[in-house]
Amino acid sequence: MKQDMIVILDLGNSENTALARAIRDLGVYSEIYPHDITAEELKALPNVKGVIINGGPNRVVDGVSIDVREEIYDTGCPFMAVDHAPAHCAKKLEAWPADEASMTEVLKEFIFGDCKAEANWNMKNFVEDQIELLRRQVGDKKVLLALSGGVDSSVVAALLIKAIGRQLTCVHVNHGLMRKGESESVVEVFRNQMDANLIYVDATERFLGKLENVADPEQKRKIIGAEFIAVFAEEAQKLEGIEFLGQGTIYPDIVESGTKTAKVVKSHHNVGGLPEDMNFKLVEPLKQLFKDEVRACGLELGLPYEMVYRQPFPGPGLGVRCLGAITRDRLEAVRESDAILREEFANAGLDKTVWQYFTIVPDFKSVGVKNNARCYEYPVIIRAVNTVDAMTATIEQIPWDVLLKITDRILAEVPNVNRVCYDLSPKPCATIEWE
Ligand code: XMP
Repeated sequence: MKQDMIVILDLGNSENTALARAIRDLGVYSEIYPHDITAEELKALPNVKGVIINGGPNRVVDGVSIDVREEIYDTGCPFMAVDHAPAHCAKKLEAWPADEASMTEVLKEFIFGDCKAEANWNMKNFVEDQIELLRRQVGDKKVLLALSGGVDSSVVAALLIKAIGRQLTCVHVNHGLMRKGESESVVEVFRNQMDANLIYVDATERFLGKLENVADPEQKRKIIGAEFIAVFAEEAQKLEGIEFLGQGTIYPDIVESGTKTAKVVKSHHNVGGLPEDMNFKLVEPLKQLFKDEVRACGLELGLPYEMVYRQPFPGPGLGVRCLGAITRDRLEAVRESDAILREEFANAGLDKTVWQYFTIVPDFKSVGVKNNARCYEYPVIIRAVNTVDAMTATIEQIPWDVLLKITDRILAEVPNVNRVCYDLSPKPCATIEWE
């Protein structure tokens, strides 16, 4: 391993993730571990240069104050304690400084002064390390990966291709609810440019068949999820000798900061729900990365910018934006209007400032006039939101001229549409998606 590491022990501080981020931003790798890590476990971690015991308000659990194990102080590396006063710590802080600049100074002094860590955390080193680790883990066995085209699965694919080449089989299931050009770009990038072993399954008819006349949003989501697993499992069963399943699990999926056990693994699996008899071992090479590090890793591996900076897209895809029972004409209207919206947002530079933007087509019509004749067609609704964690969201003020241009284009280019609306609702009360 190339990277030096600073270990954060979670002793009830709710800001462990932010601390890990701050240390990584100084160029030193950092991971969070539960307070009760043993000396042996700590020693087994690679290149540990120092430990920060991060105390905080959640230190008292069920009326009992928790503490780290005494034995860890014998591991020989420098310790720093925050909001905690153990006898053996060289450095103690009552609390972290409130302002960022002072906090950075404290961190620098400990990391580079006391610990003598090197600022060698960068994506080039990470990729080199992971390639070596993946080769060691996988050996001459085969890995299967569900490649949705999302940021995480794309970066996992690129990393695995670098490490094990054609021992990786990628399966891309097109459920017919992808955005315009998206499945094509997965095939182009991975099969044609990166020479991946890619199985492309066009399951459009199968999905649309199952979804016919189903109007209830939850029911639609369930059908899409279950069908996805079924198609993926069918493809997997056709293959021989697969031992591992690749997954795009990332650090926020794993860490739950501010609890007495930092390493709680959430049941957050992209291809969770595979049949029991498909007993794969997992390969999760991004599980130590934050989202922006995943993107940097993707760029380092040569993935296109648009793929790496892709906006979030729900698993059920356009299926939850074609409201009610999905029909092909409305699905096309969502897909075409979404493509226009994305193009015009990119032209106006809004793709860099707006977190998520898309169109919705409801399942009712309104009256209009086209070519001097009455028409009765669907509206398109535009939604553009900003958020930090998708738990709450605010509405983006889009320049009027951009909205007018998008409206003109949708009305001129998208069949079966005679009206365009802009959704002004924040979350809460509204959710980001309409279904
Ligand atoms: P809501 O609509 O709950 O959406 O405010 C919050 C964020 O989550 C995305 N989303 C999903 N992502 N599978 C996903 O991977 C899903 O089923 C799903 N549903 C919503 C949504 O696009 C938004 O970014």
